[in-house]
Amino acid sequence: MRLLFIILFFLHSNHLFAETNLSSEDKLNQPKSNVSKLSKPGDDKDGYHSKDYESASKSLERSGKPADLYSIATTRQLGMPELSFAEGTNLTPEKIALGRKLFFDRRLSHTDTISCAICHVPEMGFAHNELKTAVGTEGRSVPRNAPTVINVAFLTKLFHDARENSLEDQVWGPLLAHNEMANPSPGYIINKLKSIPDYEGLFENAYGRPANMDNISRALAAYQYSLVSGNSPFDKWYYGGQSNAVDDSVKRGFEIFSGKGNCTACHLMNDKYALFTDEKLHNTGMGFATSMYVEPPRKKVVLAPGIEVDVDTSVYANDSRFKNEIAPNDLGLYVITQDPNDRWKFRTPTLRNVELSAPYMHNGQLSTLKEVVEFYNKGGTRSVGKHKNETISPLMFELNLTDNEVNDVVEFLKALTGENMDVLIMDAFAVPVGDVSLDDPNWFHENKLKY
Ligand code: HEC
Ligand code: HEC
Repeated sequence: MRLLFIILFFLHSNHLFAETNLSSEDKLNQPKSNVSKLSKPGDDKDGYHSKDYESASKSLERSGKPADLYSIATTRQLGMPELSFAEGTNLTPEKIALGRKLFFDRRLSHTDTISCAICHVPEMGFAHNELKTAVGTEGRSVPRNAPTVINVAFLTKLFHDARENSLEDQVWGPLLAHNEMANPSPGYIINKLKSIPDYEGLFENAYGRPANMDNISRALAAYQYSLVSGNSPFDKWYYGGQSNAVDDSVKRGFEIFSGKGNCTACHLMNDKYALFTDEKLHNTGMGFATSMYVEPPRKKVVLAPGIEVDVDTSVYANDSRFKNEIAPNDLGLYVITQDPNDRWKFRTPTLRNVELSAPYMHNGQLSTLKEVVEFYNKGGTRSVGKHKNETISPLMFELNLTDNEVNDVVEFLKALTGENMDVLIMDAFAVPVGDVSLDDPNWFHENKLKY
């Protein structure tokens, strides 16, 4: 009892000590008991290059609150279309709960280290704010940026190159990819789930059968059906008729977005709802410069606050052992169709919650929304040096927006953050992360699955 008291005192005094070290601005950023400020990305890295950088990370204070995900999945939100489920889904709270457990479970990877949520981080817009391109098992590079999984349930074209059509099919990509969760086979995952004690009965309860390829995909999809977030300030104004839901800058920004900015040519909307995507693939010029090998050869890498190194990637560019380390030549849709006209074509992403999911584009090359709007303002990447981007979309052209107009478009984009994002994040915080516990055998090292 006395020991407990001492520990509690220690924790408490430590906390006070931490608090006195905070600047007044940081104090403002501290989480309040009400969660309304949560859905800002934890650490925007402003000033990260300076030695005086202080993290605004809230991870030590987090505590979760389960949400009624079933009702979120089945209630239509302002600005969103009706959600349609894959055939045979028959959504239930048990299916969602099982998928939610799987999504956060690191044991779903070969080495018990990487869950879906390691790359689709709830407090980072269910994307990843810290990495331009994702990093998987044992630090292996993934050539693309992790997109948000919020509102993916509405999409019929998944991945930056649209190579999958349904959430149910998509999950086998990361589960089996050598550089993501690195499982050797579907059967391996199934056997493992059948052996882990805390999954006992869960698949039988939700699906009436033990774990198999079909119900593992369906369960992960079921959780993602509940990650719906509309009802943004923009929706309240545009679809809900509340004139004071957004300020004038947002309204001016929307005027440009849907007018001379030509954004709605690809980021579609209609008078009933807006997913802000045509689900088509376009060449905006993003990735063109990298493919022409004009950028980098040098790459700046920040190792820690204030410690930056400048790496000459050409030193190892020709060594096949490091081919994943250099910026990859990503040709987008071409990889699937092998049609030269499809080079650098990527799927138009949704813009909902875009403020939360920096960095942007398939390669994470743009860090802020302002950089994105400036990219469009100059008409995308039309040429690099003597190389002309011949297949750039005819919908891309110089916009001649003033700096104020660019800022207004950014304000508009920030008004697309869904009302329940904090609810979804707090719900995610309430899920156990599926670490290997003392009751668990060491699945990876002890070969408990008897291969
Ligand atoms: C190592 C990081 C990583 C892990 C782990 C990971 N993902 Fe992803 N996810 C990505 C990246 C990167 C992409 C984009 C890949 C591409 O376009 O080729 C992506 C794309 C997606 C998409 C498509 C989104 C869209 O807008 O098209 C969905 C859905 C998704 N992941 C769900 C999951 C699920 C479910 C899991 C766990 C089974 C998972 N991811 C595990 C990094 C990851
Ligand atoms: C020709 C079609 C097209 C037009 C016009 C267009 N976009 Fe895009 N947008 C895309 C595509 C395609 C991507 C993804 C590119 C990539 O991944 O490399 C994208 C990506 C984005 C992103 C990054 C989203 C993310 O999650 O990474 C933002 C923000 C964005 N567009 C805003 C705008 C704005 C604002 C305008 C108008 C000024 C606009 N777009 C005009 C097709 C278009």
